[in-house]
Amino acid sequence: MKFSLFSESKTKEVIDLFKRVFSESESEAEGQAIADFVGNLIATTKSQDLIGCIAEENEIIVGCIFFSRFTVPSGQDAFILSPVAVSTDVQGTGVGQKLIQYGLDHLRSLNVSLVFTYGDPSFYSKTGFEQINEDIVKAPFHLSQPIGWLAQSLNGQEIQAMAGPTQCVEALNDPSLW
Ligand SMILES: CC(C)(COP(=O)(O)OP(=O)(O)OC[C@H]1O[C@@H](n2cnc3c(N)ncnc32)[C@H](O)[C@@H]1OP(=O)(O)O)[C@@H](O)C(=O)NCCC(=O)NCCS
Repeated sequence: MKFSLFSESKTKEVIDLFKRVFSESESEAEGQAIADFVGNLIATTKSQDLIGCIAEENEIIVGCIFFSRFTVPSGQDAFILSPVAVSTDVQGTGVGQKLIQYGLDHLRSLNVSLVFTYGDPSFYSKTGFEQINEDIVKAPFHLSQPIGWLAQSLNGQEIQAMAGPTQCVEALNDPSLW
């Protein structure tokens, strides 16, 4: 398994992966919705605000994750992890966790302080994410599942409560995603 950073030349293959994985795990409509979202994320996010990571097996992409810039009131450098997909045929073999770990190591190398995500705590806790209360850091939109609001510090310092709103990139600026 080879891990590397996403580059725009891989856009079509990555969108196809998300479409296939979510069509198989949820529905064709979900597959199309996530494909549209990923296309939009790549097209509308400045390159310095978007970090994609891919896992390849025999030159075929079997996993992909994106981190996008997340603006927090403390002014610390922060990113949010979304979305994540691992090819159905290799799910449950550790690819997702290794890919996220690869991405977190890269963010650490860039001195990013905080990473957030919104998803299943039982999966994301395996790579260091913990539930975070909105009294500590607010989500940008009303959360339909507050239990899925997760974060981790990458610099060893505890996340301090910060007052004020947070801001995600344009592609995530859609209340229905939250
Ligand atoms: C969720 C997903 C990214 C996990 O990646 P993966 O490579 O299959 O996961 P790993 O093999 O690294 O880790 C497996 C562990 O995560 C757990 N896990 C796997 N898929 C999970 C899911 N959908 N929800 C919760 N936990 C999950 C397993 O229970 C397993 O735990 P165990 O080792 O204690 O049994 C992948 O299954 C996937 O792409 N699913 C469909 C799309 C999706 O739901 N994406 C996430 C939302 S954006």
